[in-house]
Amino acid sequence: MKFFLDTANLEELKAGARWGIIDGVTTNPSLIAKEGVPLEDQIRRICDIIDGDVSAEVIATEADEMVAQGRELAKIHKNVVVKVPLTRDGITACSRLSRDGIRVNVTLCFSAGQALLAAKAGAYFVSPFAGRLDDIGGDGIGLIRDIVQIYKNYGFNTQVLAASLRHTAHVIEAAKAGAHIGTLPYKVIDGMFNHPLTDKGLDQFMKDYAKVFEVSSAAR
Ligand code: G3P
Repeated sequence: MKFFLDTANLEELKAGARWGIIDGVTTNPSLIAKEGVPLEDQIRRICDIIDGDVSAEVIATEADEMVAQGRELAKIHKNVVVKVPLTRDGITACSRLSRDGIRVNVTLCFSAGQALLAAKAGAYFVSPFAGRLDDIGGDGIGLIRDIVQIYKNYGFNTQVLAASLRHTAHVIEAAKAGAHIGTLPYKVIDGMFNHPLTDKGLDQFMKDYAKVFEVSSAAR
């Protein structure tokens, strides 16, 4: 399973990069706006920090505009994956960009039927939003499981990028469901490190070792 960071914040990206386990980045217009830097500039900076796929979303709702913007975004860096919404125009844009060899992430996917449309359009990634579906009483992880199964049935190459993952249990369940990628906010991946028994065990190891070697050096 690949881990992407779901953030446009450079400090979070630098901190995550140090762990050596981040395979890419996803952004969206809300995350870019939070950083207050125009899309193209921020994507360029992100590509300088993370050596992996970086999703950059078009700011358009009409197919021709999405295609034009997508082509420009793809020129920023070889790692850019153009992100389009799962609408009729988005799927049209995905088909056209994919035919040109530009990798596309189809986002805002909330049903297996929508995910089939994305695969048919040649999407490189499809992004089902687990948390937002759970928010309205749906089954976000069930959706991921269904998409993975359907893609397997037909040999679609589109990778399932589990998005809107809000906590560790979401990540584990998405992994069990077979998601190829999980995109995680910094605080979610940071939280995955924590276990009280790890802290307790490490504390004990340090104390035990220090006790013996303190005694030994005092005896010499
Ligand atoms: O990148 C989009 C997605 O991960 C959004 O997550 O928590 O805003 O639903 P959330």
